[in-house]
Amino acid sequence: MPTNRSITLTFSILLFCFENIDGFAKIRKPPMGWMSWEAFGCAKDCVTFPKTCISENLFKSMTDELVNQGFAAKGYEYINIDDCYLTSRGTPSKDSPRGDLRADPTRFPSGLSELSKYIHSKNLKFGVYNDVGRTTCAGTPGLNVSAVPDEEADKQLRRDIFVMKKKWNIDSIKVDGCAAKKNLMNITYPKLGAYLNNDSQQVIYSCSWPVYVQNLTATMTGVPGALDDNVIPWDAVTSSCTTWRIYKDIMDSYNLERHAGIRQIIGVFTTYNASLRSAQSVGAYHDPDMILAGNPGLSANQARIQFGLWSMWSAPLLLSVDLRKISDEIRNILLNEEVIAVNQDELGIMATPMILGYVMLDKAEVQLWYKPLIDGGIAVAIVNMGVFDAQKFKATFTSNDVGLQKGQHFNARDLFQRKDLGVFQGEYSTYIEATSIIMLKITVAKNK
Ligand code: GLA
Repeated sequence: MPTNRSITLTFSILLFCFENIDGFAKIRKPPMGWMSWEAFGCAKDCVTFPKTCISENLFKSMTDELVNQGFAAKGYEYINIDDCYLTSRGTPSKDSPRGDLRADPTRFPSGLSELSKYIHSKNLKFGVYNDVGRTTCAGTPGLNVSAVPDEEADKQLRRDIFVMKKKWNIDSIKVDGCAAKKNLMNITYPKLGAYLNNDSQQVIYSCSWPVYVQNLTATMTGVPGALDDNVIPWDAVTSSCTTWRIYKDIMDSYNLERHAGIRQIIGVFTTYNASLRSAQSVGAYHDPDMILAGNPGLSANQARIQFGLWSMWSAPLLLSVDLRKISDEIRNILLNEEVIAVNQDELGIMATPMILGYVMLDKAEVQLWYKPLIDGGIAVAIVNMGVFDAQKFKATFTSNDVGLQKGQHFNARDLFQRKDLGVFQGEYSTYIEATSIIMLKITVAKNK
């Protein structure tokens, strides 16, 4: 006969498990939210730039915009501080041998605990940034994870995590790899991951590890094998980290030779698709870097291409833009729940590419990407990289190309236009303009 006490105990354990599953469930999807770096960088001069410097006012203001403009309701939930919020460590103590991490008191006068409370009071989540090495990339105090057991360093690491998780109540952390030994990252990143997520308060652990251990020039020039698992220890990365940066810092440009413009990142994800696709799984996602829609360097069509492909890849959707300044057209792109659903699809699959053909001038590609969805549908993106506006490309794909049977009848819906296109048998054809993307959702229709 179970006693009352054992029934209560069993019930509490069950409840605890469900809470945990729920906690995990939320970070099993690619994170969506806002991040300061590309748009606001390391701006510290709040006298000249009071509205755009890295300060508590900026993060509160972006929290308000995320809620008031309807982003939160569509799933954008993280407000992530990137670099340049920390000042030097506090006074050393018995618990904190090197002194506690502290936000710059002039720019964050209320402190991060208060900022975190503000963000949480709006039902959003709070993320910070740090580094596995001695300092962050902008030179503020790093976590300095020791690769060997080291009493003082390990104590400090536990203390830093306590400060971040229990005092600042973070939900997410991006961990960079500046001022750190690359050859020890296979120890330091997993160690930090284990320390970070050792209790039921799970945080997103966004690592930059793969960026540091690859030869970026080889990746940039498409050298075969540049992202293979003898270069990047994929098993270790994917089991330690929730998301991880894969390439250089994104810049506000569609096409920026030798750097990370949108086209260059698409190139990396196309060339290395097979390795990247097999490394990705539910709860573990490649991060091609922030979404830049709304910034001056991208047209609306280019922004649509970025947003569409990042969704096809199940990549994090972290907006880095001054939300106070975006146009209605850009807001509509970012709030398109049908494209967001492709990004957040529970299978978490990275799409597979194929080349449909080439258009004039530098033989620009027209690509087709497809990705199976949990409801049995298939998301399809057709992207025209061409730049000759007079030339439209006739894009055709068969049911076979996107993983369906030959001759299959299917329904097609245009996700950016939010329009049903009808039923098609075995193939679909459309004209696509230069620099544009068409995103479709295909669902199997009954054969007539
Ligand atoms: C690195 C990262 C960027 C940003 C800066 C901050 O360059 O890749 O995303 O976090 O550091 O200094």
